[in-house]
Amino acid sequence: MIVQTVLGLLALYSVGASASVTVRKTDKGPTGYEVDFKYVNTTANRVLIGGGLMPFSDHFHTTLNNRAWYDPHDYKPGDFYVAGGQMPDGYQWPYEMKSDGDGVWSYTTPLPSGIYSYAYLIDCDFPPNCSIVTGQLVTDPDLPPFENVKGDQVSSSFQVPFDARFQGTDDITANFNYALPAPAEFRGTVKSVNYTSPGSIHPAPDVHHLALYLPAEYGKVEGKKYPLLYLSHGAGGNGNDWENQGRMSSIMDNLIAAGHIAPTVVVMPSFYNLDDSLPRFVMGDASTTFALPAPERIRENYQKHLFPWVAANVPHVCDAPGCRAFAGLSWGGRLAYEMYAHATDYFDWYGLFSPATMNVSYVDAGALAANPALGRKGLFVAYGLYDSVFEAALDGLGVGFLSRVSPFGGHYWNTWQDELWWFGVKALWKPFPYTQRTGR
Ligand SMILES: *[C@@H]1O[C@H](CO)[C@@H](O)[C@H](O)[C@H]1NC(C)=O
Ligand SMILES: *[C@@H]1O[C@H](CO)[C@@H](O)[C@H](O)[C@H]1NC(C)=O
Ligand SMILES: *[C@@H]1O[C@H](CO)[C@@H](O)[C@H](O)[C@H]1NC(C)=O
Ligand SMILES: *[C@@H]1O[C@H](CO)[C@@H](O)[C@H](O)[C@H]1NC(C)=O
Repeated sequence: MIVQTVLGLLALYSVGASASVTVRKTDKGPTGYEVDFKYVNTTANRVLIGGGLMPFSDHFHTTLNNRAWYDPHDYKPGDFYVAGGQMPDGYQWPYEMKSDGDGVWSYTTPLPSGIYSYAYLIDCDFPPNCSIVTGQLVTDPDLPPFENVKGDQVSSSFQVPFDARFQGTDDITANFNYALPAPAEFRGTVKSVNYTSPGSIHPAPDVHHLALYLPAEYGKVEGKKYPLLYLSHGAGGNGNDWENQGRMSSIMDNLIAAGHIAPTVVVMPSFYNLDDSLPRFVMGDASTTFALPAPERIRENYQKHLFPWVAANVPHVCDAPGCRAFAGLSWGGRLAYEMYAHATDYFDWYGLFSPATMNVSYVDAGALAANPALGRKGLFVAYGLYDSVFEAALDGLGVGFLSRVSPFGGHYWNTWQDELWWFGVKALWKPFPYTQRTGR
């Protein structure tokens, strides 16, 4: 178990269980923090750590296709991880656990601030090829993922704090402390919820699943209604991703604690397996990832089943476009775009995080003339600098929007955390149309 205390400075330590992950403050370089992994497996011959834990790169050696592949023991201020890229031939994967001979595997590494997803790769020689499909990937039995049904997530995660003495740099800011637990009185709750969705094939026939975040204040103030944010996952994911891999509850708690947004309810739906028109999606099985439901199919399903269910079953939520937003990452960003274009009357704010809008024409002059409301929405478009789905949008139409490019960003969770944070700080629930002064 990981236990978090807030004693001025944040300290993380593990208690009780002998195995699992411990984040230790060291007060020395290279990052000011070390992470101890401990895993018990008496039958494994070799254990690597993968499942989202990646080597590092820096600003000066990274392009859309290339990364520097640094071992974190060699961390320098300004290093960050970027998903993707081709591992060089003969590359030595840094995260190799050592056995004590009795099946207790351990590994210690310095890491800088950020969220890290990980899983153990058993008897695996080439991390990108080891998965639940090959039977070589197991989640940490001592730190299980946030999920609904076992198997809905295939990694666990932990967060490392920032230490400016060792991680401070002028070239990028990679301080993710906004995703560490907020002071206790601001901590909301997040849980898995099943809802009735005719045609759904997971987790049960006609039952579908979402994750629900309720702010700390929810239900405690007589008669008070809360604004509602729908927050979507992307290709290969589900409604548990934002909490399990992105610590959305801590980000929301901190946005609320700092006064950037009013207390907000968040619904994180799941867009796969809404019906049986496509092969069944299984998390971690890449062959099922790209049987992607079309955004218009997802929108129609949500309009028919999800939105009415939420309106009827989450009681203290206000029920008007002026207190509703839709945001999503990657294919979920494409879905947010779909909602902007075709559910314009239902939401007033939209967050397009690293949206997969290839081959989709953004709202053009004709669409804007036909639906002038498109020009009067709170629109936020964000990308990572090394994000493979980068694409320009919306300029030239006179539609006001805010833009964010994460300076360390690939198509992965550190970027999406950054996008959710800045969406909250600058855009969500703020007056629109946005102008040159919005967010200043
Ligand atoms: C230990 O490794 C084996 C493969 O040798 C794997 O099947 C099993 O799930 C692992 N056990 C645990 C507790 O992770
Ligand atoms: C990884 O998998 C790919 C596709 O199956 C295969 O072509 C490649 O040889 C594998 N690489 C290694 C090092 O096992
Ligand atoms: C949702 O339904 C599935 C399948 O019946 C069940 O295994 C799971 O525990 C349910 N989850 C919740 C949060 O009720
Ligand atoms: C976009 O179009 C290209 C070329 O037609 C195609 O290869 C690619 O799969 C398309 N991408 C999406 C997301 O539809």
